[in-house]
Amino acid sequence: MNICIIGLGYIGLPTAAMFSTHGHKVLGVDINKKVIDALNQGKVIIEEPYLEEMVNDAVKGGTLKASEKPDEADAFIICVPTPIRADKTADLSYVENAARMIIPYLKKGNIVILESTSPPGTTRDFLGSIFSHAGFIPGEDIYLAYCPERVLPGRILIELKENSRVVGGINEESARVVKELYKSFVEGEIYTSEATTAEMCKLMENTYRDVNIALANELAMLCEKMRVNAWDVIKFANKHPRVNLHMPGPGVGGHCIAVDPWFIVEKQPEIAKIITLARDTNDGMPQHVLGRIEALTSHIEGKKKILILGVTYKPDVDDMRESPIIELIGQLKKEGVYNTVIVDKHVDYEGSKDNDLYEAAKNAHLIVLAVNHSEYKNIDFARLKEAMNSPKVLDTRNFWDRDIVEQAGLEYHLLGCGRNQF
Ligand SMILES: NC(=O)c1ccc[n+]([C@@H]2O[C@H](COP(=O)([O-])OP(=O)(O)OC[C@H]3O[C@@H](n4cnc5c(N)ncnc54)[C@H](O)[C@@H]3O)[C@@H](O)[C@H]2O)c1
Repeated sequence: MNICIIGLGYIGLPTAAMFSTHGHKVLGVDINKKVIDALNQGKVIIEEPYLEEMVNDAVKGGTLKASEKPDEADAFIICVPTPIRADKTADLSYVENAARMIIPYLKKGNIVILESTSPPGTTRDFLGSIFSHAGFIPGEDIYLAYCPERVLPGRILIELKENSRVVGGINEESARVVKELYKSFVEGEIYTSEATTAEMCKLMENTYRDVNIALANELAMLCEKMRVNAWDVIKFANKHPRVNLHMPGPGVGGHCIAVDPWFIVEKQPEIAKIITLARDTNDGMPQHVLGRIEALTSHIEGKKKILILGVTYKPDVDDMRESPIIELIGQLKKEGVYNTVIVDKHVDYEGSKDNDLYEAAKNAHLIVLAVNHSEYKNIDFARLKEAMNSPKVLDTRNFWDRDIVEQAGLEYHLLGCGRNQF
């Protein structure tokens, strides 16, 4: 088939690479000229293992090229961003622009697929009405379906192939033709369903995780008050064959788990009470960590130096989107009594990339382990102790071994743990 993919980011580009190396001819469309120029030279501007090699092969083989404008095709796939607005509703303007962009090239019998994570009803009602107004009856003149991604950055090409998928058509025939198309490279199971069901399914996958993390965070705060260690509670409770408590932490970040639940809330705020509460609980964790920092440094007069280890939204990535640590740093600054220094070699945030851990620890009153990057596992705690003004650490991830830290002469404090000794 001739396939036109709108939006060549983390999702659109690997999808384009897959289709173009599995028997189809792909035209990738983006509004960013840098993306287009790079692709046409067989290069990519995002980091993803094996992607550049695959793109290069397809471009050389003549099955993949990029342009600022769409062209006629058999199938159009929309992979543009769906960011969240300040009022916690989805900004569908990119999806709308992409849909309007393809209308001049659309013909009867074409397939249109939405891959962007979207609020329930987006495919059937929002896109459906845009195409109806343009004179195409969805389900009769064109096939229309939602086909979400559940890939993990860093493993996108493997997971695009191996993961199972759900395809939601606005009618059975739309789901069937889209399933056939994705079978060109998907080796996992492809389940077909109705469009809004598939949208809800995608959103609930991330909502399930968000709600469970909120439960773990609530447990952590309860345990601090009750002088119990939440991490022990979780470890032992999870020995139960039907219990899977998640891990607490300083908040939830990233552009999926911290965002997708709001797309459900915006549609049914009166009913989505647990989902809203979970979002609020997780968003409140930086404030809770601030409280712990205040308590641990209350005896210090004047400015207090806090060393923050890690600022990304999860370990070993260079992504700071929606990171709760940035929120925590903002709150510390607002207090006006903290001097924050950040160390994180994965990203450059206020000099974090170049800051040396042991230099940055000089005269610090507290070290907060905010992100469990692998390089923080085996650090020289004795050297940190020597450098610090008041030798205390707050581990928000249960990442360090209390005995090792204490043997080095540092006071060890743990998020979710209300007592310091067994
Ligand atoms: N990245 C992930 O791991 C992931 C996983 C599942 C779902 N998603 C969802 O997939 C969608 C895309 O995410 P992403 O991470 O690929 O985003 P991205 O920001 O990496 O890429 C989006 C691309 O679309 C382009 N674009 C924007 N408007 C356009 C338009 N009108 N025409 C053509 N190009 C346009 C941008 O220039 C950009 O290159 C989002 O809805 C996201 O929530 C992402």
